[in-house]
Amino acid sequence: MSEFKKVVFSGVQPTGNLHLGNYLGAIRKFVALQEGNDCIYCVVDMHALTAQLVHEDMPNQIRSIAAAFIASGIDPEKHIVFNQSAVPQHAELAWIFNCVARIGWMNRMTQFKDKAGKDREQASLGLYAYPSLMAADILVYRGTHVPVGDDQKQHLELARDIAMKFNLDYAEHIRKTDYGIDITVGNEPVHAYFPMVEPLIDGPAPRVMSLRDGTKKMSKSDPSDLSRINLMDDEEAISKKIRKAKTDPEGLPSEIDGLKGRPEADNLVGIYAALADRSKAEVLAEFGGQQFSVFKPALVDLAVNVLSPITSEMRRLMSDTSHIDAILRNGGERARARAEVTMKEVRDIVGFLY
Ligand code: TRP
Repeated sequence: MSEFKKVVFSGVQPTGNLHLGNYLGAIRKFVALQEGNDCIYCVVDMHALTAQLVHEDMPNQIRSIAAAFIASGIDPEKHIVFNQSAVPQHAELAWIFNCVARIGWMNRMTQFKDKAGKDREQASLGLYAYPSLMAADILVYRGTHVPVGDDQKQHLELARDIAMKFNLDYAEHIRKTDYGIDITVGNEPVHAYFPMVEPLIDGPAPRVMSLRDGTKKMSKSDPSDLSRINLMDDEEAISKKIRKAKTDPEGLPSEIDGLKGRPEADNLVGIYAALADRSKAEVLAEFGGQQFSVFKPALVDLAVNVLSPITSEMRRLMSDTSHIDAILRNGGERARARAEVTMKEVRDIVGFLY
């Protein structure tokens, strides 16, 4: 028995502006995982075509995600930062996975149903196959750990199903090579080529909700810009949005229980706690009994303190794109080399002549 080497992989789509929800929910986790791990962080530009074919300014959208990674503290020399389309092996493996995955599996994907909406016949084939490409993104590096939001859990389960079916269907072929390793899945021994990916979902990351409606997720597609704090917002915008954030007329409770049924209050306390790296209970111990007129300015100060160094570094990186472009080019090269090692073996396992 042995184990796959731990490889952390995650991806962010280059669509719309990054906001506080993306930062607290994803990017901050990517930063924390760097210590002691081999991490690969990808701007998934090919995924961006699935819902909308033509994008206004794709190159700068790609750069701005990479800039957010770097500005937040991801080290592109120790780890890999690149854009998906620079590594054609993702698409190559995705094709094989399209043949591994079953239509019945894809039909259960709730995100496809949500994104396709009522007129499913008009959704792109790419949107349908999206989770298969996502599995390829991870497994082309034989990735083992994937920090994502809760909404991506089902896609990761599908990635495990795909990996398992590949391992079992090609078991004889894998045995003839020395690429496989013996693992246990549940209690079953499996001679596997692909690892069973694990989601890294928990941790301090809160679900960051809209500033206008505490029951909806903060989202880049919300028509109201007041609903979210964008990573590129300046101090004035952050301050205005927090001051205008919806609240109820009561003050802050001293105990977590008092946040029940008060989604807006809960959200603002959650954001404060996440930004301060404290628990909600600790925040309430400090602010319990206070009015929002006291809490909101404190939240503005904290948000500006945490975000402004990131924002200004992002602006600096975006003002002369040559540095970001060099990082992406270098990351792409290193990612390609690793992905090609896997694909050579996969082609061999499948039986393709090459
Ligand atoms: N589907 C992910 C999201 O929308 C983005 C993504 C694409 C991804 N490929 C991935 C995330 C691989 C993790 C691993 O958030």
